[in-house]
Amino acid sequence: MPSSVRIDVVSENVAHHTQDVIRLYRRVYSGAPYFYDAADFDLFETTYWRHQIAEPGFVLTLAWDNEAIIGMAYGWTFSVASKSARLLSLHLDNNAVAWLDNCFIFAELSVVPSWRRRGVATALHDQLLKATSHISALLYVLASDQPVIRFYRKLGWSILAKKVSQNSDRHYHLMGRRLSSAEDVPKRQ
Ligand SMILES: CC(C)(COP(=O)(O)OP(=O)(O)OC[C@H]1O[C@@H](n2cnc3c(N)ncnc32)[C@H](O)[C@@H]1OP(=O)(O)O)[C@@H](O)C(=O)NCCC(=O)NCCS
Repeated sequence: MPSSVRIDVVSENVAHHTQDVIRLYRRVYSGAPYFYDAADFDLFETTYWRHQIAEPGFVLTLAWDNEAIIGMAYGWTFSVASKSARLLSLHLDNNAVAWLDNCFIFAELSVVPSWRRRGVATALHDQLLKATSHISALLYVLASDQPVIRFYRKLGWSILAKKVSQNSDRHYHLMGRRLSSAEDVPKRQ
């Protein structure tokens, strides 16, 4: 990664970065393969982001080129009591279900197009996982996005279940990664 790039880890006063995050989100997700529209951005700003930063254990990493934001990653502690945990457990074998007890949801990773393929996402990913103390992490990835699936495989993630979630016409795979002394990642694929 270029030495001019700075990575910050933020776990307090996260709302302070709301405008930077929204600007970045719009730049990344208006393009392929997402092509989000005004309604998607509105939902992110008014609902998702506000709920997400209130999640327990929320941590954000931000990448900066001088004072311009060029990338971000964030996640939070997965709640075993949540409806999504109950739904997820239907897709997981016993080994993977055990992870949900102490698990980090790796919810977001994005880099602006002009800064890609220079190691920024890898640095954001590594710093975010370093800032957590969970035994495992889970993420959803667009099932059709093979380059991103390859990217996560390179960083130690495996597909745990295919097409576990659907948002409009988009299907998502579930990927998992061991973070500390847990059992090996169960390999479904
Ligand atoms: C996925 C994303 C975060 C990668 O960011 P990045 O800064 O380019 O990633 P890095 O430079 O750290 O890692 C690049 C490595 O990942 C793989 N990779 C990443 N994007 C790739 C692509 N479009 N095609 C092929 N390989 C890709 C390659 O192995 C690459 O290594 P290389 O450049 O040495 O070949 C970025 O493309 C992005 O923001 N995409 C849109 C948002 C998104 O899909 N996020 C993931 C949601 S789950």
